[in-house]
Amino acid sequence: MPKVPARIRKAVFPVAGLGTRFLPATKAMPKEMLTVVDRPVIQHVVDEARAAGIEHFVFVTGRNKGVIEDHFDRQFELERTLAERGKSKELASLQQDLPSAGQTSFTRQQSAQGLGHAVWCARDIVGNEPFALLLPDMLHFSSQPCLSKMMKAYEEVGGNLIAVSPVPEDQTQNYGIVGVDDLEKDVSEITTMVEKPKPADAPSNLHITGRYILQPEIFELLEKQKPGAGNEIQLTDAMLGLLERRDQKFHAVRFEGELYDCGSKLGFLMANVAYGLTRDDLGEPFRAELGRMLSRGA
Ligand code: UTP
Repeated sequence: MPKVPARIRKAVFPVAGLGTRFLPATKAMPKEMLTVVDRPVIQHVVDEARAAGIEHFVFVTGRNKGVIEDHFDRQFELERTLAERGKSKELASLQQDLPSAGQTSFTRQQSAQGLGHAVWCARDIVGNEPFALLLPDMLHFSSQPCLSKMMKAYEEVGGNLIAVSPVPEDQTQNYGIVGVDDLEKDVSEITTMVEKPKPADAPSNLHITGRYILQPEIFELLEKQKPGAGNEIQLTDAMLGLLERRDQKFHAVRFEGELYDCGSKLGFLMANVAYGLTRDDLGEPFRAELGRMLSRGA
C-alpha cells in the first residue's frame, strides 16, 4: 500500500524582514500590516492557510512587529464598544477572523539574516513534522487558493512542494528559479533550483512564488547554511541541498492566478485594485470611479 504522507497542520509566516522597498511606510509599521482594501496583507495570507486546513499559525517576527501579534489577539474594549453600538456585523467579522486560543505561536528572528534564517527560527515550534510556509507579502489571487491546491497535490505525491509561476525570460535574476522534468505538467518533479540566476544560467523561467510544503529535514540544512545571494541565508540554497541528497522528492505545483508582491509599491497598488474590484460591497462603485479617473487621465 502507498505510504500516506503526514498531515500538514502547521504553517510558518516569516514576518521579520525590514521592508526596505516600502520605506518610509515601513519605518515604524510592518509591511505585513499594510492593508489591501480593509484587511492587512498578513490577514489575507492567514485566510489562505485556514482555507487549506491549517490548524496552527507560527509567526517569525522581529522588532517593531508587535502589532502583528496584537492583530491576532482579542480586543476587548473594541468588542464591547461594537456590541454596545449594535454593530453586530463588524463584531462577527472580527470574531470570525480570530484564530482560537493556542492556535498561534510567535518567535523572534532577532536580526534579519534572510528568509532561510527566519524559517530556521521556527524549528522548535514546528518540530519533527512537515509544514507549510507562506511568504506574507506575496498575495496569490485565484479562484482556487494556492495552498489548497498544493495540499491536494501533497496527498498524491508527498515530499516537498513549491508553488511556481512563469516570469518573462529576461527577469530570472530577480527570483528563485526551478528546473523541472516536464514544463507542460501541472505538478512536475523539480530537478534543480537556483536563487536569482542570470537568464543565461536559468534552468527555466518558473519562479518560486512564496508558497511551500516542506519536510522537517530542511531545518538540518538551514542550520548549516552559509549566506548566499545578497549575503543572506537563502532558503533556496538549503532546499537545493535537500534535493541533492536524493532521499526526498521536490515537486513544483503551477499556480494559476495573479500574483501581487505587496512588498513592492507597484504590486501593493495592483493588489488593492484587484481585490477592490472583486468585493461585493465595493466592486461596482470602485470600477466606475476608476473608469472616470482613467478617462480624465489622472
Ligand atoms: P523579502 O526580501 O521580500 O522581505 O522577504 P524584506 O527583506 O522585508 O524586503 P525588502 O527587500 O527589504 O523590501 C520575503 C519574506 O521573508 C521575510 C519578510 O518579512 C518577507 O515576508 N523575511 C525576510 C524575514 O522574516 N526575515 C529576513 O531576514 C528576511
